[in-house]
Amino acid sequence: MNISVIGTGYVGLITGVGLALNNHKVICVDNNKEKVEMINSKIPPIFEKGLEEALNKTVPSNLSASDNLEKAVLDSDVSFICVGTPCDEKGKCDLTAIKVVSEELGKALAKKNSFHVVVVKSTVIPSTTEKIVLPLLEKNSGKKLGEFGLCMNPETLREGFALQDFLNPDRIILGLRGEETKKVMEEVYGKFSSQKFFCDFSEAEMIKYASNSLLAAKISFINEIGKICKKLDIDTYKVSEGIGLDKRISPFFLNAGLGFGGSCFPKDVTALIAEGKSLGVNTFLLDAVIQVNETQPKTFVDFVKKETELKNKKIAVLGLAFKEGTDDIRESRSIPVIKILLEEKAEVLAVDPKAEENMNKEFPEINYFDSSQKAVDLADVVLILTDWKEFSLLDFKDKLVFDGRNIFNKNKPLNYKGFLW
Ligand code: UGA
Repeated sequence: MNISVIGTGYVGLITGVGLALNNHKVICVDNNKEKVEMINSKIPPIFEKGLEEALNKTVPSNLSASDNLEKAVLDSDVSFICVGTPCDEKGKCDLTAIKVVSEELGKALAKKNSFHVVVVKSTVIPSTTEKIVLPLLEKNSGKKLGEFGLCMNPETLREGFALQDFLNPDRIILGLRGEETKKVMEEVYGKFSSQKFFCDFSEAEMIKYASNSLLAAKISFINEIGKICKKLDIDTYKVSEGIGLDKRISPFFLNAGLGFGGSCFPKDVTALIAEGKSLGVNTFLLDAVIQVNETQPKTFVDFVKKETELKNKKIAVLGLAFKEGTDDIRESRSIPVIKILLEEKAEVLAVDPKAEENMNKEFPEINYFDSSQKAVDLADVVLILTDWKEFSLLDFKDKLVFDGRNIFNKNKPLNYKGFLW
């Protein structure tokens, strides 16, 4: 099939590459010419495992990039909307990009005679597809739903595993109406053996928010249990293992530690809270999910302070990315931890295999090290904030090591302190 993907951020690029690997002919569209050139030159604009190899495989035979949205839509049968929906601090999502693209798509649809399906992949608050995207498409195309197709197909990609997640999803959620659209979407995902779940637009949107909120809730839940376990000298990870054996609970997302960061969980839970409040619904549980998460960095530093002074100490901070396998520092738990360390007048020696450049923009005043071992050697105290496996192989000698992510399997450092275990 011929498919256009509008927006080549994280979700758009992975979607485009994933569909191209499935033998579709894909045009990725972005108004950022630099990104377009990079993609056409097979250079990944973001760091993601397997992306460079995938670009090498698919460009130019199955994948190309362009800044011409109209032409891409005219040359394709399906268009995925993958533009960003950033949220402000109160959780309100900015739908400007979604609206602009819906208008442009509508205008392009006006010039088409063949049936075309528009797919919303961006994460949008329930009813956005129905109340914003659909009216804009209808108004600008002069056509009614049915003359073109519309589908809400949320993404379920984890950073660091995005391509793998795209190619092997647990399920494919397809919020759509009409047999013709269903047939097209079945063809788009024809090579995928995963279960396809059909529902309406708003149900698909809510499935995305509810999934992320539930996963975030599992993390905050186990972090709360972890704080109680720590007081009672119980290993929270043994408890998680035991809990996870119950199939109704499952063993995933029960790793206690510094809490969740990234561009999704904090933003999505906050957006759902804002939506609930605007509808007059009290969101006690979702509020608590955020509250527990927000307090984890301070609880961690308090735990460190019980064992050692921070003032004028050299503190090696191992891990800046919000999790292993990415250079993304958005909402990384390392940010509040570093802020507190600086307030406490500690000297921060920061290390990360991928995220140093990004964190440098946030904290230009701290020292960054290419070698984790060197930072450890120079430090008085070591804090592990991101679950990069390679940190577990360092020689910590007799340094005091505070682990916020439980990265050691067996060989723990001599002076090891686990945060919640
Ligand atoms: C998350 C979801 O896992 C994806 O399914 C979803 O598609 C994506 O958001 C999205 O909405 O786009 P991601 O943010 O990339 O993916 O990262 P996760 O691997 O889910 O981790 C999120 C955060 O939770 C990380 O900071 C991680 O360290 C933390 N975490 C995760 C824990 O603290 N404990 C756990 O047990 C699991």
